[in-house]
Amino acid sequence: MTKKQCAIAILAAGKGTRLKLPVPKALAPILGETLLDFVLKPLSLLDKCNFKTGLVLGHKKAEIKEYVGSKYSDKKIIFTTQDEQNGTGHALQCFINDFPQSLEMDYILVTCADTPLLTKEVFETLFSKIDESDALVLSFIAKNPKGYGRIKKFDKGLTIIEEKDCEGQQRDIKEVNSGVYLFKTEYLKKHLKNLDNQNAAGEFYLTDLFKENEKVEAITYKDESIFLGVNDASQLEEARKILQKRKVLELQNKGVFFEAPDTVYIDDTVHIGSGSVIGPNVKIQGRVDIKENVEIEMGAILKDVEIATGTSIKAYSYLEDAKVGGNASIGPFARLRPGADLHAKTKVGNFVEVKKSVLKEGSKVSHLSYVGDAEIGKDANIGCGFITCNYDGINKHKTIIGDNCFIGSDCQMIAPIELGDNCFVAAGSTITKNMKEGDFAIARSKQVTKEDKAKQFLKKK
Ligand code: UD1
Ligand code: MG
Repeated sequence: MTKKQCAIAILAAGKGTRLKLPVPKALAPILGETLLDFVLKPLSLLDKCNFKTGLVLGHKKAEIKEYVGSKYSDKKIIFTTQDEQNGTGHALQCFINDFPQSLEMDYILVTCADTPLLTKEVFETLFSKIDESDALVLSFIAKNPKGYGRIKKFDKGLTIIEEKDCEGQQRDIKEVNSGVYLFKTEYLKKHLKNLDNQNAAGEFYLTDLFKENEKVEAITYKDESIFLGVNDASQLEEARKILQKRKVLELQNKGVFFEAPDTVYIDDTVHIGSGSVIGPNVKIQGRVDIKENVEIEMGAILKDVEIATGTSIKAYSYLEDAKVGGNASIGPFARLRPGADLHAKTKVGNFVEVKKSVLKEGSKVSHLSYVGDAEIGKDANIGCGFITCNYDGINKHKTIIGDNCFIGSDCQMIAPIELGDNCFVAAGSTITKNMKEGDFAIARSKQVTKEDKAKQFLKKK
């Protein structure tokens, strides 16, 4: 059977003034993405029809176009414009005006850009019922129906009465309009042009497409909370909490263990492999790929990182735009800055900062060091208090250290500098000249010891 065609209209022209954000409401940040991303996600999973998605934009449309255009370039999302916000019915008229091919499809699904909790299953309930009707609205029983359109049912058909237009006991109706609809396009062709704005708001209501004596129906969905609309900061936070719980649950079901699941911040873009353990108060953001059996201890912050199997990120480490190989050990209190590329079995210990540097397999920088613009070979041991002096005030310079080198504690490398394999640098050395393979260097002033002279410098008791 050939699949039916369905256009999706996402209404996003409204101002969203109550959120008080510098960005339009559709781009309100949530779990490392935006409200709009969470609206698009479940829609992209639908497979009942061939879908073509379009947005109705008005307020700050250029910003939304730019975001969607670059992030979903492969999906070819259609942009339509509603310059003046004359109501949801007017928004759908604008959609069809700018995207007339939508009327040649079988259905038009309408939803809003500010309901980020909807799932694939919610939309599927509409598709399973559309054969018997011309138009469907998803409804739910609201604990407090205030602000929603009330569903008034007749023997045949129904109407939706907006809060502002309710009279008498109509306000007490608990079944309300969720703002999600599925129309047969034949029905829209007949009725959409006839909408008027003779109502309390003076707007063209989409909800007026639902009429008595028409084949229109309300499908009552069991769960009210899923329709949460984001209009202000507290609703944005409520939605974030629910989506965060869903993300944690998704990872738990894949075999990731959370020591304190309610305390973590994990973007929806994060992948974590099974057997990994995430400690309390961990924050993982951006494009992150964490493989299996990785341990991330309390308070660690990770942004845009790749971490291979079996690695341990100890407490309070900060990793950004970095790569760590398998069975490595980072921290506690380590900082990996952009371009840190640590291979398998490396160790970066406490109070060590690594920037734009490669540490090859098995190398260790265990304590209190700065490694910047460096390339350190395999199995090198870098002692405590090591510093690459990479910056001369104008330019950055490279430090290259070969395989199996031993660098004693408290050494500085004045870059640019290069040490071959198997070099040994004595503790306390400031290295200014290149060393060939197998060289030994000591670069510190000679010790002078004067017998019995200490008492001259010690305070008298
Ligand atoms: C709407 C419904 C109401 C329903 C409620 C569910 C109508 C007339 N009422 O009311 O029955 O219970 O949603 O949340 O539809 N928008 C535009 N252009 C406009 C107006 C709105 O694109 O001219 C967009 C908004 O950006 C928003 C969506 O449409 O994404 C809904 O608009 P909103 O003003 O929030 O409608 P409600 O008053 O909540
Ligand atoms: Mg609303």
